Amino acid sequence: MPRRNKITIVGAGNVGATAAHWAVQKHLGDVVLVDIKEGLPQGKALDLAEASPVFDFDCEVIGANDYDKTAGSDVVVITAGVPRKKDPVTGKFTSRDELVEINRQIVGEVTRQVASRSPEAVLICVSNPLDAMCHVMLAESGFPTERVIGMAGVLDTARYKYFIAQALGVSVEDIHGMVLGGHGDTMVPLPTHTSVGGIPLTELLPQDKIDAIITRTRNGGGEIVGLLGYSGYYAPAASSVAMVESIVRDKKRVLPCAAYLKGQYGYSDLYIGVPCVLGAKGVEKVIEMKLGAKEKEMLEVSAKAVREVVALLPYGKK
Ligand code: NAI
Ligand code: 2OP
Repeated sequence: MPRRNKITIVGAGNVGATAAHWAVQKHLGDVVLVDIKEGLPQGKALDLAEASPVFDFDCEVIGANDYDKTAGSDVVVITAGVPRKKDPVTGKFTSRDELVEINRQIVGEVTRQVASRSPEAVLICVSNPLDAMCHVMLAESGFPTERVIGMAGVLDTARYKYFIAQALGVSVEDIHGMVLGGHGDTMVPLPTHTSVGGIPLTELLPQDKIDAIITRTRNGGGEIVGLLGYSGYYAPAASSVAMVESIVRDKKRVLPCAAYLKGQYGYSDLYIGVPCVLGAKGVEKVIEMKLGAKEKEMLEVSAKAVREVVALLPYGKK
């Protein structure tokens, strides 16, 4: 009998616990939920496990404050860190980049812990600032680049597709498209590569409506922080689980992920969102699509923004 997949999720907060919920509901494997807060991962894991007879999932869910039970994981999702918040006095949001110093320490420590116990795992970074934290995970794990991946493009694309479906009054199922670039205000939605049931988006919506959707997508994370006072987690968790599913089921889905580029799109030594084939080995291929001059220019702006944050990290030339 093949053993069940083992998925570790570090950070039992909003994104981590919700990702655990959807991972077991999709029967993706046993889940180990880890957090530094005593009782939190154990309580959430037990509560979720108690739902198994209701939803019929034969997955174990274990909570822990240390890493011993994570050994031999196939996939590790790191959501540990401090999220974006709205300052109750000034009303200003924490930017993703302001999180860099605190989260690099947390993500660095977590990565060392999981990498030593699961040397063959695929690591998925969720913690912000996303693209920079992927560099931390790569450096601290010592893993090959294809096994260290960031989740952002799936989320940004989901928001983009949802807004298009709403604007057209059609099913989300029929929207195809992608958002590339870094996970920040400079992300790069690609309307000329977006279709609705096979029909180019540009034939269905006027440019001003497309522009409004692009702006709303870029501010998608901030829009939720503005409403909740903290960052969203249903769509981020769903997006993380889509990546886990493609890996543990070796589906080879084409998903926009933060991948380490080695010359593709003209970039090297940089994590940025690009279309990837995701399978059991992690990023099995980065797909190089043809970009127009304006799209290339936007990707360059986004890459520059990512490099500025990466430059704050203590990893030499990057
Ligand atoms: P949260 O605050 O609800 O959960 C974070 C959890 O990490 C907390 O339970 C905390 O105790 C835990 N933690 C902190 N230090 C730890 C350590 N050293 N070891 C283990 N656990 C530790 O935050 P939320 O909303 O779940 O967000 C988590 C991260 O994901 C944030 O950095 C947030 O900005 C990021 N995020 C990224 C998205 C993306 O698209 N890449 C989307 C949404 C959130
Ligand atoms: C988001 O886009 C905060 O990065 C997080 O929702």
